[in-house]
Amino acid sequence: SMAEKGGYRHFMLKEIYEQPRAIADTIRGRVMPESSEVVIEEFGLSEKDITSIDRIFIVACGTSYHAGIVGKYMIEELTRIPVEVDIASEFRYRNPIITQSTLFIAITQSGETADTLAAIRQARSLGAKVMTICNVIGSTASRESDFVFYTHSGPEIGVASTKAFTTQIIALYLLSIAFGKIRGCLDDRTISMLIEDLLHLPASVENSLELDNEINNIAKELFKAKDFLYLGRGINYPIALEGALKLKEISYIHAEGYPAGEMKHGPIALIDEEVPVVVLAPSGRLYEKILSNMEEVKSRGGTLIAITSSDGESAKRLSTYSISIHGINDYLNAVLLTIPLQLLAYHIAVLRGCDVDQPRNLAKSVTVE
Ligand code: G6P
Repeated sequence: SMAEKGGYRHFMLKEIYEQPRAIADTIRGRVMPESSEVVIEEFGLSEKDITSIDRIFIVACGTSYHAGIVGKYMIEELTRIPVEVDIASEFRYRNPIITQSTLFIAITQSGETADTLAAIRQARSLGAKVMTICNVIGSTASRESDFVFYTHSGPEIGVASTKAFTTQIIALYLLSIAFGKIRGCLDDRTISMLIEDLLHLPASVENSLELDNEINNIAKELFKAKDFLYLGRGINYPIALEGALKLKEISYIHAEGYPAGEMKHGPIALIDEEVPVVVLAPSGRLYEKILSNMEEVKSRGGTLIAITSSDGESAKRLSTYSISIHGINDYLNAVLLTIPLQLLAYHIAVLRGCDVDQPRNLAKSVTVE
């Protein structure tokens, strides 16, 4: 009913709009405002556990796997611990190299995905310490792990994951800061800045949500397309993967996410007027690089949709359609860029008359192999 959807037409839309609150709930109690500290006592990891880690494995499925790739960028940069990310159904069958100094992080919204549970069991039997980033309290994954980081984003009903994803990224951001401090990679000033940035995130997500109408108008121009390409670089590469996954899950349009610099090795052959190309182009470290990828698309007649920052004039100039976020820092911008991609997929699916909350052939959690 409309009532259980809080007045929204679909659970997915309600959950997209819940993100400022969900993110605030993930943060609550885990940072001390005014201090440069992330509080991790609740997870039960000791300082000794954290200093003895020599490698991190992140394993997940679907959208949670994309959060894992985002996590790799953050953890490696902020802690200098090498991170490997794998899809659970691959990890479990490849005799992974795990030792007692491996920290294994499972990411699972439901805590019930069969492949992820099998990976957790395997990692534990090989001696790794296992942490699960999970949304559902008391789930199987949380019961079977040494340490649990609950995202507290509230029940997610829509099959296509939205708020679970952005809050998983926040969990990984918090862990990166905590580990970076304990391992001496981050000074107090940097930590204070990262935390202050984080405290601004819910309000910036509200700003991203205000783009809804603009995005709906873009969706009206594009919803008949047969193929979409999503491009991003660095930490926004997994965001491109997630944007493409959202669109294919709920609208049944073929969509591919690609690291923009790799486009020349394949996807560039697909580009013509019929293929919308969504580019994640916030200002920041890789801005110039992504602009040159946009030139490559434009010179082949592709329709560019840029998700950029308020100051991203060049990205806007190159694009047929553009949307601006209020950028914070390279890590948190990944979250801010996700919101327009969720809304774009949502509106396109609605315009195509698809069952947004229950797409064909998909399940909220896949409890069989
Ligand atoms: C299914 C859902 C996805 C989800 C994936 C992993 O495929 O449709 O939305 O990302 O499972 O689920 P989990 O609960 O392990 O995060």
